[in-house]
Amino acid sequence: KHASVLAPSILAGDHARLADSAQIVESLGINWIHLDIMDGHFVPNLSFGPQTVAALRKGASLFFDTHLMLDEPHRYIEAFAKAGSNLISIHIEPAYDHAATLARIRSLGCQNGIVLNPGTPAEAIEPFLDQVDLVLVMTVQPGFGGQPFRRDMLPKIAQIDRWRQERGLTFRLEVDGGVDLVTGLECRTAGADTFVAGTSFFGAADKASVARTIGSW
Ligand code: DX5
Ligand code: ZN
Repeated sequence: KHASVLAPSILAGDHARLADSAQIVESLGINWIHLDIMDGHFVPNLSFGPQTVAALRKGASLFFDTHLMLDEPHRYIEAFAKAGSNLISIHIEPAYDHAATLARIRSLGCQNGIVLNPGTPAEAIEPFLDQVDLVLVMTVQPGFGGQPFRRDMLPKIAQIDRWRQERGLTFRLEVDGGVDLVTGLECRTAGADTFVAGTSFFGAADKASVARTIGSW
């Protein structure tokens, strides 16, 4: 079982001071940061691109967990790898060569991840489980921070964790959307080990305590 990892989502921080958000995370001894990339097509919102990721890379030694919410992620893998991403995750829902794109991410020296939306059944990603470093289960419909956690995703997390154990696989199991100290612990119990927290982290007065609590799971 993997140790629990907190990946604060910079989307919930001040976008005029993204580097400060990364610095806050790093200064608390947190190793990961979650970077949400949106294209206005796959999700009805825009965020930032590889140029911003590269600028953040200059001042941070954090593990960049890059979540691509894009219709055509295969077109941008190289750009995000070059920008300094450590892990690049891609959604299963759009039509493109998923296996080739997952392999391409690794060939560029990054870890890879496959992501599924709340409406997508676990079976959709099952064929890729032996090809990934991380599975990301969305616990909200992606596009915006601050939405309520979807408790009906817990069985999906448990199913993917079951497959992981049955097959002796070691990918990380990450959850994203509405994750806080209550809902995150429910995900941990269901089998998750990696916790994206936007609003619950950047909105917390005592961020160190959030980090300590999640780190103790
Ligand atoms: C949703 C993004 C999330 C988001 C999470 O589209 O993928 O990473 O930042 O934010 P909270 O934790 O506020 O739900
Ligand atoms: Zn995300």
